[in-house]
Amino acid sequence: MLRRLHHEQPASFAFTPDNQAWAEAQMTKYPEGRQASAIIPLLWRAQEQEGWLTKPAIEGVADMLGMEYIRALEVATFYFMFQLQPVGSVAHFQICGTTSCMIMGAEDLIAVCKEKIAPNPHELSADGKFSWEEVECLGSCANAPMAQIGKDYYEDLTTESFGDLIDRMGAGEVPLPGPQNGRYASEPAGGLTSLKDHEANKNPANASVALATDIGDTLKRIDGTEVPLTAPWQGEGRKVAVKARKTVKSPGDAQAAMSDANETAKPKAKATGKPAETTDAGAAKTTTGKADDAKAAKGGDAPSKTDAPAMTAGSDAPGATGTPASGPGTKPRAMKAPRKSGADDLKAIKGVGPKLETMLNGMGFYHYDQIAKWSGEEIAWVDQNLEGFKGRVSRDNWVDQAKTLAEGGETEFSKKVKKGDVY
Ligand code: FES
Repeated sequence: MLRRLHHEQPASFAFTPDNQAWAEAQMTKYPEGRQASAIIPLLWRAQEQEGWLTKPAIEGVADMLGMEYIRALEVATFYFMFQLQPVGSVAHFQICGTTSCMIMGAEDLIAVCKEKIAPNPHELSADGKFSWEEVECLGSCANAPMAQIGKDYYEDLTTESFGDLIDRMGAGEVPLPGPQNGRYASEPAGGLTSLKDHEANKNPANASVALATDIGDTLKRIDGTEVPLTAPWQGEGRKVAVKARKTVKSPGDAQAAMSDANETAKPKAKATGKPAETTDAGAAKTTTGKADDAKAAKGGDAPSKTDAPAMTAGSDAPGATGTPASGPGTKPRAMKAPRKSGADDLKAIKGVGPKLETMLNGMGFYHYDQIAKWSGEEIAWVDQNLEGFKGRVSRDNWVDQAKTLAEGGETEFSKKVKKGDVY
C-alpha cells in the first residue's frame, strides 16, 4: 500500500499542555541521548490528539526528540497504526484481509464497509464518523475474520455482527471488544476441552479485553485528561503532571466491564453512595511524597497541585464506619482523604488496576493497612460493590497482600510494579 502524507495539511501542531507533559515524561524513560526511542508513543499521542498524523505533528515530534524529519517520516509512513490522512471521528476500521481472515469472510466484511461507510478505503462516511481500510495480518488469525477498530480487536466477526458494531458505534456506544461470537478467547468453538477450572476462565473477559476496559482506553481518543498508560519510571524524582480521569459516559447497559470503563467518576460516586466531591480520584490525592510514588505504575492518576486543598484532611470518616450496605457484608471503615503522607499505591496489590484504584479511593480506601484489616464481612461488602469487578478482593486475596505491604514488605507482584514490569 502506498503510504504518503495527505495533500492537505494544517499549518501547525502543538501538543496540549497535558499531552506535552505526558510526552516529556515519556522521553525520560530513555537514557540521555536516546530520546528518539520515544518516537512511537509520541507520534501515537499526537495522532490521538489530532485524530490523524499530520506533517506538522510528525515534524514537531521530531523536533522534540532531536531527530531529522526524514527519520520521523520513515517511522510514521512505515507503521499502518499511523493514519496519514483524516479518518472517521468515531472509528477507523482496519479489516484484516490476509489468508485466515480472507478464508473466513474478510471480503464480506469489506463489502459491509463499502455499503455502510464509503465505497473506497480511506474515504470518510457521509456523516464523517467512520472510515475503513484493508490491512495485512493483525496476528489474531485464530479469531478470523477480525478487525482492529480504534485500539482494540473485534474478532470472530460475521457480516451481521460487524454491521451491528458499526450501527452501535454510530449511536455512541462502545461495544465490548474481543470475540463477538461468545468465545472467551481462541478456545475451540465447542468450548474448552482442558484447563476448565483455570482461574482465568472465571473472569468476565479475557486479559486483553479486560485490560482495554480497565484502562477505559478504547474507541475514545486520548485528550490529555486521562490517566497515563504507562509511567512506571515515576517515583525517582520524575513526576508526570497528568490530571485525574474525569470522563466518560456510561452506556448503562449489560456490558458491565465496558460500561465500567466508560463511566465518569461522578456517576460512580452515586453508585457507591459517596459524596461526589470525595470521589474524584485526583481531588483525593496528595502531590507529595508517597503519592507521587503511588502513581508509579501504569495508569496512575497524578493529581495537579491545585488539588492540594482537598487532600489535607486525612481523617477517617466517622459516619462511614461499619455502614450497612445493600447486599451482603458490612462496609469497612472509610476515610475522607488519604493521610498527609499520601495515598498508598494500591496498584501494587495484584488485581488492582488504575480503574479499581480510583474506585477504591472513591469508596474511601487509600492505604494498605485499611485493606489489611478487612474482615470476612467487609471483604464481602467490597467484593459486592466493585462495580464491574465483583469478587476481585477474595479472588486475588487483597487482604494478605495488603498485610505484607502495610508491614513494609514486598510481594512478587509489587516487586514487578516497582521495577516497572507491569504495564
Ligand atoms: S489472517 Fe487475519 S489476523 Fe491473521
